Amino acid sequence: IKRVRTRHFQNAKETGILITGLTSYDQLSAQIFDEAGIDFLLVGDSAGNNVLGYDTTLPVTVDDLIPLARAVAGAVKRAFVVADMPFGSYENSAEEALNTAVRFMKETGAHSVKLEGGVRSADKIRRIVDAGIPVMAHIGFTPQSEHGLGGHIIQGRGEGEDQLVADALAVQDAGAFAVVLEMVPAVAAKRVTEALRIPTIGVGAGPHVDGQLLVWTDFAGFSTGRIPKFVKQYADLRGALTTAVEQFRGDVADRSYPGPEHSYD
Ligand code: KIV
Ligand code: NA
Repeated sequence: IKRVRTRHFQNAKETGILITGLTSYDQLSAQIFDEAGIDFLLVGDSAGNNVLGYDTTLPVTVDDLIPLARAVAGAVKRAFVVADMPFGSYENSAEEALNTAVRFMKETGAHSVKLEGGVRSADKIRRIVDAGIPVMAHIGFTPQSEHGLGGHIIQGRGEGEDQLVADALAVQDAGAFAVVLEMVPAVAAKRVTEALRIPTIGVGAGPHVDGQLLVWTDFAGFSTGRIPKFVKQYADLRGALTTAVEQFRGDVADRSYPGPEHSYD
């Protein structure tokens, strides 16, 4: 099997073949997604909400994500692994950003890093790319700045559309190999995708992009409570697992598990 490389992303943009990505935080899910042909796995700081028990991504640290990124990178044969740079690990300076990116590359086996922000993060992206580390950019709704943005609000509407395009061009000029567009109107995503040489990866950005990314616990039906409009649930793993657990409890209670076939002579 040939590994996915950054040139695969560029080829996809040029040929119109769509890129698929899912988040992953552990070996089991990474193996499954890799074998099923998902092109890239993002070890997202959404691990804060989905693994670590936080309400937002803000408390997540580099030390939290390193073991998860190592598990995912170690599990894949083909997929391109992107490690997310958490809040507070790159904003201070380009030097800080490079130091964090280097830690992920040295300590996890991930193939690239992702960080949030367009114009404001361009100098950080440039420094990391200059060191030979591919960067996936992330603009539109950026969860690490949820409080600055005033909540989970769609970005790139009205006058925000020009800002979105400016952010997209800034990360492209800084050397990003792809850019995530999160929660933006489909028309704005279309405009950005047409304006860029590098591929756009949508998560809540409609159909006119070069690839699609979903948070795996959302797409597989694990998440409870408010699920964003853009998420399509492709399975009901919460329901399936709940049924299995209830059966196990019942079988133990009525002594039908373990049977002779599960017991040693
Ligand atoms: O952490 C994450 O899962 C992300 C994607 C939603 C873009 O950054
Ligand atoms: Na993230």
